[in-house]
Amino acid sequence: MATKKRKPTKKTGKPAFKVRNATVKDLPILVHQRRAMWRDLGARDQRDLDRADKVYARWARSRMKSGTLMGWIAEDGGKILGGGCVWLQPVQPRPGYNLMIQPYLLSMYTEPRSRGLGVASGIVLKALEWCRKNRFLQLRLHASEMGRKVYIKHGFERTWEMRRRIKKLSEDS
Ligand SMILES: CC(C)(COP(=O)(O)OP(=O)(O)OC[C@H]1O[C@@H](n2cnc3c(N)ncnc32)[C@H](O)[C@@H]1OP(=O)(O)O)[C@@H](O)C(=O)NCCC(=O)NCCS
Repeated sequence: MATKKRKPTKKTGKPAFKVRNATVKDLPILVHQRRAMWRDLGARDQRDLDRADKVYARWARSRMKSGTLMGWIAEDGGKILGGGCVWLQPVQPRPGYNLMIQPYLLSMYTEPRSRGLGVASGIVLKALEWCRKNRFLQLRLHASEMGRKVYIKHGFERTWEMRRRIKKLSEDS
């Protein structure tokens, strides 16, 4: 008799996956997730994507080693479902806040077959927990259209950040 494949479900009330910290060994996973995120956002030029992979791998490796990039990976029995990272981004000083770094959530990606199961939510909760533990006052990000509902669900709000375009990039929102 054919056995049915187990599908992770939210209905049990318990997520069928675990979110763990990423290490430098997970770089190939993080690079894949970053590339897949850009592809889903409309980046199609393979050469640009290949180049971006190399640059991101170098960028992420050095920051993971210096402790300014944290990553989380959601997995279900060794199967990777998604992930995301927090980068401690340099910022200008301001009255009452002289730290000059702020946490920034990036590279959020869930494999298409695992979407809608709370994977991205699990990563966002870990990132928020990390920020609280490290006494940061806020977590910032730039939300893709697909990501907006996820972030709104977890209390993120729009800000007054503005921009004046000099040149439009096709996958820029
Ligand atoms: C955005 C993305 C990471 C969401 O991942 P996910 O694991 O499916 O998200 P979750 O399951 O945690 O969803 C959380 C909530 O957002 C809503 N949501 C998620 N994706 C949605 C979509 N495409 N359309 C409408 N609602 C969506 C869900 O309804 C869910 O709410 P619920 O739990 O109350 O039903 C995933 O769609 C993705 O990888 N997209 C491509 C890359 C991308 O846009 N990354 C974000 C960059 S900022």
